[in-house]
Amino acid sequence: MTFPVTRLRRLRKNSTIRNMVRETEVTGDDLIMPYFVCTGRNIKKGVASMPGIYHYSIDLLIKEVNKMIKDTGINKILLFGIPDEKDDEGLVACDFEAVVPNAIRKLKEAIPHILIIADVCNCEYTTHGHCGTIVDEDVDNDLTVNTLVAQSLILAEAGADILAPSDMMDGRVDAIRKGLDNGGFQQVPIMSYSVKYASAFYGPFREAAQSTPQFGDRSTYQMNFSNRKEAMREIAEDIKEGADIVMVKPALSYLDIVRECANFTNIPVAAYNVSGEYSMVKAAAEMGWVDETKIVEEILTSIKRAGADIIISYHAIDFVLSMKKQQRRV
Ligand code: PBG
Repeated sequence: MTFPVTRLRRLRKNSTIRNMVRETEVTGDDLIMPYFVCTGRNIKKGVASMPGIYHYSIDLLIKEVNKMIKDTGINKILLFGIPDEKDDEGLVACDFEAVVPNAIRKLKEAIPHILIIADVCNCEYTTHGHCGTIVDEDVDNDLTVNTLVAQSLILAEAGADILAPSDMMDGRVDAIRKGLDNGGFQQVPIMSYSVKYASAFYGPFREAAQSTPQFGDRSTYQMNFSNRKEAMREIAEDIKEGADIVMVKPALSYLDIVRECANFTNIPVAAYNVSGEYSMVKAAAEMGWVDETKIVEEILTSIKRAGADIIISYHAIDFVLSMKKQQRRV
């Protein structure tokens, strides 16, 4: 059948019809809100390159998360730590008293039903800003995997609900899975940053997390953004190693990869709507060049439409609030 019998505009006639045939809808259940937690008390410090995003000390983070749950119903967070001190290998993070394990314990105590995903990586904790231990001016894979396992165990012991390794070392999912299982944490899932590209879209995050590499870049471990087939190899490896959820990151320039991953596997796919993607929207909205509410809805919907089951986004709270304001279902 074709025109004039077929008229696709019939199903676009009014909002009731359009809503009836809408294929994709983002809800609060899909969204994870990232937070940066620092030491000290009573600290809420803005991140210049990410308007609306802050470093919170644990006491204020608890208040903020409580408010988020009350206002939006979002109860899933991804935690990044801002430590007081750093070292060559990121061992400061392998301490039960480190900022993230401490935050996890206190958050869980205050808000037992919160779901906490802990980012597992060394870049926030190393003096040089790379994601692992340096040997001959490059990150040594296997030495780094050891510190990642140690960090994972501390995070699991503190009560993290899900671990999310973001380092891109080979074999780390296998090592972390074995470490968790041997440590009695068989029930803690791994959400692997399986397909993480070496990307300029992480720029604002590195300011926020104080994790800019002091020399070179991350291209010996993060993926080349020109590659698609390699992404499928990364996903396949991580699934074989025991990942429960795979992630594609960044999201927007990589929606083709999100779709391909979703077609390739039956395990849940997450996409990370990263800092640079957020900051570009914020900057354009501040200039009055785009309608932030509308553009955010379009962006998040496109990520879900591409096949993401889970979306990590700094817009998560604003999105749900604006949907509620419009009395839309979230
Ligand atoms: C740590 C990590 C990064 C991000 C998440 N985990 C930064 C990086 O790899 O440099 C980026 C998140 C964002 O840009 O929002 N390895």
